[in-house]
Amino acid sequence: MQDLEPLRAKYLGEIAEATDEAGLEAIRVAALGKKGEVSLRMRELGKMTPEERREAGPALNALKDELGAAISAQAAALADAALAERLKAEWFDVTLAPRPVRQGTIHPVSQVMEECAAIFAEMGFTIAEGPQIETDWFNFDALNIPPEHPARQEHDTFFMAREEGDDRPPHVLRTHTSPVQIRAMQEHGAPIRVIAPGRVYRMDMDQTHTPMFHQVEGLAIDRDISMANLKWVLEEFCKAFFEVESVELRFRASHFPFTEPSAEVDIRCSWEGGQLKLGEGDDWMEILGSGMVHPKVLAAAGVDPEEWQGFAFGMGIDRIAMLKYGIPDLRAFFDSDLRWLKHYGFAALDVPTVHGGLSR
Ligand code: PHE
Repeated sequence: MQDLEPLRAKYLGEIAEATDEAGLEAIRVAALGKKGEVSLRMRELGKMTPEERREAGPALNALKDELGAAISAQAAALADAALAERLKAEWFDVTLAPRPVRQGTIHPVSQVMEECAAIFAEMGFTIAEGPQIETDWFNFDALNIPPEHPARQEHDTFFMAREEGDDRPPHVLRTHTSPVQIRAMQEHGAPIRVIAPGRVYRMDMDQTHTPMFHQVEGLAIDRDISMANLKWVLEEFCKAFFEVESVELRFRASHFPFTEPSAEVDIRCSWEGGQLKLGEGDDWMEILGSGMVHPKVLAAAGVDPEEWQGFAFGMGIDRIAMLKYGIPDLRAFFDSDLRWLKHYGFAALDVPTVHGGLSR
């Protein structure tokens, strides 16, 4: 029998050089197909003597197996290479795009208003609003501050300019958020539980006073609301807001025309080394005025004082923002200094919730 080696070398070489499936199939047909070279040699076995056959048979079979295996291996290698090629072409980046650079920030006052809304919402308070330009009736008269009342001077009111002969009721920049009490009760009656955050204006300017500042008014009217409820609500608020186990509050007897009895509330703090710190030191910062809503105020808002009673408070938002975030000078709040805003501002997407942590 002829030597099989040249045949073996030829086909193994061709197989190794095949670059695609079709080429490989052509080689298979040429070698192992019905009329392939190896198959033809197999057919010659019949013409051989038994001795020749005993030697040539296994050799041919071995060659057939070897070429078959080489074709399969090359087919697999070509498939792998094709897949790798395809993956390279179809590649795409599944990682997150880089975060956009943070541009603006949320002002501490806005942040604190959101925090207040979140905390009081959990206690059943909804949000009420009123105009910043108020009639003096809403800002004063309805709140039991008649025209000659000294409180009108104390408020250092900004009056809106008037044309000569203009006899519409005088308008003022509201000096507190208390007129929203009247508007909310006129609109919704009793029972009611609202807070009213917003801007207020007084002619005043030093380290802790600016002509425009922010308050949040609170109002809770029902049949049997008392000072005890007020105290609980304020303490719960302060603990939640300042994110501490306990706060030290001081209730001082005071006077407001629109509440009776009235109390001012201070919180313990320290100004040591120009740093404002909460819950330590020997200083007290007044953060709010409060009391039981005066019967005349209820009546002015159309709520029957024989049937309803409740508390109100007005808290300085800028003050509690300074305390919570250790900001020593109130005036910087309104300077629009980008470095300050960057330092004290909040990320736009961190919406405060009580359960998620207010000021993460
Ligand atoms: N309006 C008062 C102020 O501006 C605060 C206050 C509100 C007091 C409600 C009592 C009740 O100082």
